Amino acid sequence: MCGIVGYIGKRPVTAVLLDGLSKLEYRGYDSAGIAWLATDGIQRRRASGKLSNLVELVAREGEISSLVNGLSMGIGHTRWATHGEPTERNAHPHVDCTGRIVVVHNGIIENYRSLRQELETEGHVFKSETDTEVIAHLVEKYLKDDLRAAVQAAVTRLTGSYAMVVLWQNWPGRLVAVRKQSPLVLGMGDQEIFLASDIPALLPYTRRVVFLENDDLAVLSAEGAEMYSIVDGQRIEQRPIQTITWDISMAEKAGYRHFMLKEIFEQPQAILNTLAGRIDPETGKVVLPELTLPLKELTSIQNILFLACGTSWHAGLTATYWFEEWLGIPCRVELASEFRYRSMPVNSNTLVIPISQSGETADTLAGLRKARDAGANMISICNVLGSTIARESGNAIYTHAGPEIGVASTKAFTSQLTVLYLIGLYLAQERNAMTVDAIARKINAILEVPNLVESWLKPWQEIAGIIAEDMAQHRDVLYLGRHMNFPIALEGALKLKEISYIHAEGYAAGEMKHGPIALIDKDMPVVAIIPRDHVMEKMISNVQEVKSRRGRMVILGEGDDELRAMAQHFIEIPKGKDLSINPFVCVVPLQLLAYETAVFKGCDVDQPRNLAKSVTVE
Ligand code: M6R
Repeated sequence: MCGIVGYIGKRPVTAVLLDGLSKLEYRGYDSAGIAWLATDGIQRRRASGKLSNLVELVAREGEISSLVNGLSMGIGHTRWATHGEPTERNAHPHVDCTGRIVVVHNGIIENYRSLRQELETEGHVFKSETDTEVIAHLVEKYLKDDLRAAVQAAVTRLTGSYAMVVLWQNWPGRLVAVRKQSPLVLGMGDQEIFLASDIPALLPYTRRVVFLENDDLAVLSAEGAEMYSIVDGQRIEQRPIQTITWDISMAEKAGYRHFMLKEIFEQPQAILNTLAGRIDPETGKVVLPELTLPLKELTSIQNILFLACGTSWHAGLTATYWFEEWLGIPCRVELASEFRYRSMPVNSNTLVIPISQSGETADTLAGLRKARDAGANMISICNVLGSTIARESGNAIYTHAGPEIGVASTKAFTSQLTVLYLIGLYLAQERNAMTVDAIARKINAILEVPNLVESWLKPWQEIAGIIAEDMAQHRDVLYLGRHMNFPIALEGALKLKEISYIHAEGYAAGEMKHGPIALIDKDMPVVAIIPRDHVMEKMISNVQEVKSRRGRMVILGEGDDELRAMAQHFIEIPKGKDLSINPFVCVVPLQLLAYETAVFKGCDVDQPRNLAKSVTVE
């Protein structure tokens, strides 16, 4: 939800800001803007639509001098609209009445209406419909000669979540940044400093980063950052500098047409990275070195609750099938947006597992806090290092999938599945819920997944390309699966709808007769996931039901002649060493099917309309 950048140093500031925004465009892409300090005051450029519009606008004007007292400085923003349409007028940065205070913001100011009313009564003139603009006017209201004090006074008036950066024309060489719930990372350079919502924007310049904590206020200068707490305005200790080990090339397309395709093809490596160091080669046991929850707590847990949204929720739902079978204890998965407002019993006997690629999803974070306050034990699964959910859970297991830029989640999903698989086996091992042999079989099976997926990626892409042409002609598609492939049907449908805009429904195949069957006719493609498992025959009956209503079948199956004969299109899936790994080999061809369909339709695969990668609002 919006990306923000900032810079102080000697480099050409517009180039640094635009480059940073290009790495954050996945967070929002309906308008963008930058502001910087020039010799004759603040310069501001904004454009609606993709970042490329802003880049063109800035390029048309050529280089503009930006060194003031030997330093250049500026801030930038790429927007995912919450308040106010995605017009140029509503694009950030926003300014106060004097035009000397400039603000970029990520998040939502919940009490902006009352603040705006108050400020307007006092004579402030608003130029946009955004919640953000109140920040600029509030800072103006409190500013005498100390920007830090004014920002501090302003933020005490704000309710909501935000990361923001404020630039004041009268304080060259300084920026003030505040983090409350929305992420903000500093990039530490030599006599220069960078700031961004996410690490990829910093990596071309530095690997040394500082994650701001909640309630941190940082005064940035080319020499570094002074840290304060917005709770009491007092100076606090520097936050530690961390070194990022992954490479910038991981956040670039590397010759692929889209990030999504690259990320689909990265899955074998991502799963390997997730597995790395988590299976002891000598004992063959699962080891989770980052787990700090005492074993006693883990072995006494009586039920498990997965909390997540979207694709991550599908990962949680898949895990309930594994965990219930392996541990024999009740497992639930809840949509975090529902859980946070429900009265669901959770206590110290519950292990809550929030799952989030970004680690910043507002609903998942709120659910985590609610469960934590109720005394639940917590292990989060996140991909983004240092993210809020990872930190607030007190115990994060990272997926190590590398940056996922495509809005449609792919490698994050399979690496979440991998971590969940490992946690399930770890609990089974420590609780003696499975025999040593049974655990070893599962471990062998998961170790085989990277190679299996690797060897099938190309054939899957080829067949997906052929089927896509057909899929693209239809308005609706039904996805069916049973047991642990029911969540995969949901995930396949979600992928298709979010990037190709074809309406797709995932259903538990047994539920078809309770309603969706009414939709089946000759124009309705039905994608059925039918590995050779204990519900295969039931799935075949469902296929017959579709066929007798002239529905068009796309079947995923294990090279079975009978299944082939029933399908208009057949996608072969390999047989793994254990049925438990079927979700991995079934989801990847469905990702490719969605991808190829979206490409065939000419859709914007990496930046589908109305979506953003990281959903930090309710
Ligand atoms: O970062 P998170 O895993 O918490 O994100 C959750 C959902 O917003 C995310 O999975 C979303 O559904 C994706 N666009 C799906 O591809």
